[in-house]
Amino acid sequence: MTGIIDRYRQYLPVSERTRVITLSEGNTPLIPAPRIAEWAGAPGLQVYLKYEGMNPTGSFKDRGMTMALTKAVEDGSKAVICASTGNTSASAAAYAARAGIRCVVLIPDGNIALGKLSQALVHGAEVYAVQGNFDDALAMVRQVSETSPITLVNSINPFRIEGQKSGSFEIVDVLGDAPDYQFMPVGNAGNITAYWKGYKEYRAHGKSRKLPKMMGWQAEGAAPIVRGEPVKDPKTIATAIKIGNPASWKQAVAARDESGGGIDAVSDEEILEAYKALASLEGVFCEPASAAGVAGLKKYARTDEAFSRSRAAVVCILTGHGLKDPDRAMAVVPRPRTIAPTLDAIQRELKI
Ligand code: F0G
Repeated sequence: MTGIIDRYRQYLPVSERTRVITLSEGNTPLIPAPRIAEWAGAPGLQVYLKYEGMNPTGSFKDRGMTMALTKAVEDGSKAVICASTGNTSASAAAYAARAGIRCVVLIPDGNIALGKLSQALVHGAEVYAVQGNFDDALAMVRQVSETSPITLVNSINPFRIEGQKSGSFEIVDVLGDAPDYQFMPVGNAGNITAYWKGYKEYRAHGKSRKLPKMMGWQAEGAAPIVRGEPVKDPKTIATAIKIGNPASWKQAVAARDESGGGIDAVSDEEILEAYKALASLEGVFCEPASAAGVAGLKKYARTDEAFSRSRAAVVCILTGHGLKDPDRAMAVVPRPRTIAPTLDAIQRELKI
């Protein structure tokens, strides 16, 4: 069984003796997406989708969680805790189950997608629904982990970032170099931090010549980095990135500035348009938050003509699987028509 720790061992803080907690995460597909390039009004772009929904629990969090749980166990920890908009808790619960240790999760009450909640519960985590938002829950788990023998596995845990940087390594391994641009959603800002670290380290090891411009996208109603101040009551249909005070704010700004990229916002309408386009034009089903980066690609192509006419290599990170949030999918598509069980009935419908 090979996950990201075995594949990239030399770049990660593990030793020969480390017992690796893995579910064979990583090695996710990098899918060419020419129809998304056309949809974005930039048909010359070489667009690729890094489909992180193909990880064992259906999101990119597994890359960080294999490292976080491996190190927690190595350090003798018997319990982990996290706050989550859903995916972190699903992943922590699965890896803790595999490690055979306790997992406690705090979620914002009523604000996480059903698929994610079912995962945390089925893997046996102790789940508490906080009457507040993600930022409130994160403040609580930070305090608990400071005063009790329980390991925090949110992305402020540096091992999470170490694991998640493997996403950059895989992209460079497939393309033979870093892309020119990377578009991705930004919530708590751990992932943009991790990808940027990964690209820089891989280049330092002579694995790539370029570094990408890091293009991060927040939802308009939850865009603290864009606005330059925390958002008290964040709002967006993309519940995964409904965050008003990101923990890795400074690191995200550094990734943006060092790379010559940008962090901007897209509306919920733009996110849903991209979400539907990915599913219907490319056959790739991601969750709404994941589509924020692709919505950003279209927005950016509209505002930068040189970019939209170029043949730049662009990678969009699709952070989570569409099946995580079936309620959202059903809300944006027509219901199936009910018909009689006869040949005549179906032929009348098909008009062929
Ligand atoms: N996309 C998805 C599907 C996510 O679940 C998250 C974060 C992000 C993007 C943003 O990544 O926080 O590293 O900037 N989800 C966290 C969670 C907050 O609790 O599952 P980020």
